[in-house]
Parts: sequence; C-alpha cells; structure tokens
Amino acid sequence: MANVYQAAARFYDCLSGERTVYRAGRERGVALLNLRPGAIVLDLGCGTGLNFALLVDAVGPSGTVIGLDRSPEMLTMARRRVLANGWTSVCLIEADATTFDPMRVANVLPAASGGLIDGVFSSYAMSVFDDWHPAWERTRALLRPEGRACIVDMQLPVGAARVFRPLVRLATAVGGADLDAHPWTVIERDGVNVQCASVRGGHIRIVAGTIL
Ligand SMILES: C[S@@+](CC[C@H](N)C(=O)[O-])C[C@H]1O[C@@H](n2cnc3c(N)ncnc32)[C@H](O)[C@@H]1O
Repeated sequence: MANVYQAAARFYDCLSGERTVYRAGRERGVALLNLRPGAIVLDLGCGTGLNFALLVDAVGPSGTVIGLDRSPEMLTMARRRVLANGWTSVCLIEADATTFDPMRVANVLPAASGGLIDGVFSSYAMSVFDDWHPAWERTRALLRPEGRACIVDMQLPVGAARVFRPLVRLATAVGGADLDAHPWTVIERDGVNVQCASVRGGHIRIVAGTIL
C-alpha cells in the first residue's frame, strides 16, 4: 500500500476526513498520553504530521517530537508543515517501522535522554503496517521504563453507527488499513494504568498506558 501514500500525499489532509471524523481521535489520544513539558515523543507512522501541533504543544519548547514514516512523499508534506510553523523541536526520520534499527532514532535524541524516549504515539498508522508487531517491539526498545504509549486506530463502528460500516470499509480499503488489526491490544497487554476511549460510534479506538 506504499503507493497509495506516495500518490496521495499532497491530498491526504483534505481527503482523509480529518475534521469530520479523525481529528477527535488524535485530540483524545494526545490528551491521554499525558506528556510532560520537555518530554521526547515518537510519532510512529506520522504521515503528513497532523499530530505535530498537538504533540509540540504538549512537550513545549524544551521537548522533542520525532516523526517516523516510510513514505518520502508523506514526509515531504510533514516537513512543509514543520517549516511553515517554525517548529524547531520536530525531527523527521524516513524508515520502515517494521524493520528500522532503533539506534537510528536513539542517535537523534538529546544526549541527556540516554537514548530513550518518554512517549510513543501512533494514529491511524499501525493498522496500515504490513505487520504492526515488529514495529511495536522496535518502538518499545526505545521507550524508557514507565514511558507512556498511546495507539489510536480504527475498527468497524458499532450500535447505531453500524449504518456507516460500508463507508468505513470503503475508506479504509482505499487507505490500506486492516480493520481487524486492533494494534491497541498491545497496550492492554503490556501496559499498566491503561485508559481506553472510543469516539465516532466506536470506529476510533484510543488506548493509552504506562509501559513498565
Ligand atoms: C493513514 S496514514 C496515517 C498518518 C498519520 N499518523 C495520521 O494520523 O494522519 C498511514 C501512514 O502510515 C505510513 N506507513 C505505512 N506503512 C508503514 C511502515 N511499514 N513504516 C512506516 N510508516 C508506514 C504511511 O506512509 C502513512 O503515512
């Protein structure tokens, strides 16, 4: 599905249903991540950087936001966003989340970090990865003990919102997302103080926790 994001990077922000559907998930997720000023956070599968404003705001001027994505085209859009906003605390890395060497991230961290990050955030990305399990293991290796993780991702809506299932199936098929991937289950498995939320009729699941 790399080609989708290669071809659609320029239109992603307009076509992705951001305002109507998906912004609610990232807002809730960043709030649950509970980042402190000065924190270092990795945005796994950052795309065009739609999370950056929220993350930059959460970590403040002394913090660091690292955006990792395998698509150069999506990262070009992310870089434009960073430049347009004058964010000096954002660093972008082009890498495949399922195979990257964690040292590539560790090498760009401030010396005082000891090569570890304080938080990981991933929205609408892990369900697109060919296999999110190795991506989690690599990311977890970078997370300091008692660091925070939040995964925001998609599943089929429930209840009255079931009526939107055909639309959701179509949109996620176009984007290459697997609605049965449920990557947030890894936080339920590995985390403590786990907090969960759902928005948009259960279509968006948000799970955050502390990883020991
Ligand atoms: C639906 S977009 C989500 C982007 C962003 N997180 C957001 O919330 O808008 C999925 C992103 O995952 C990236 N992606 C897919 N497979 C990847 C992989 N194996 N490693 C890194 N990024 C990947 C795509 O390039 C794309 O930018």
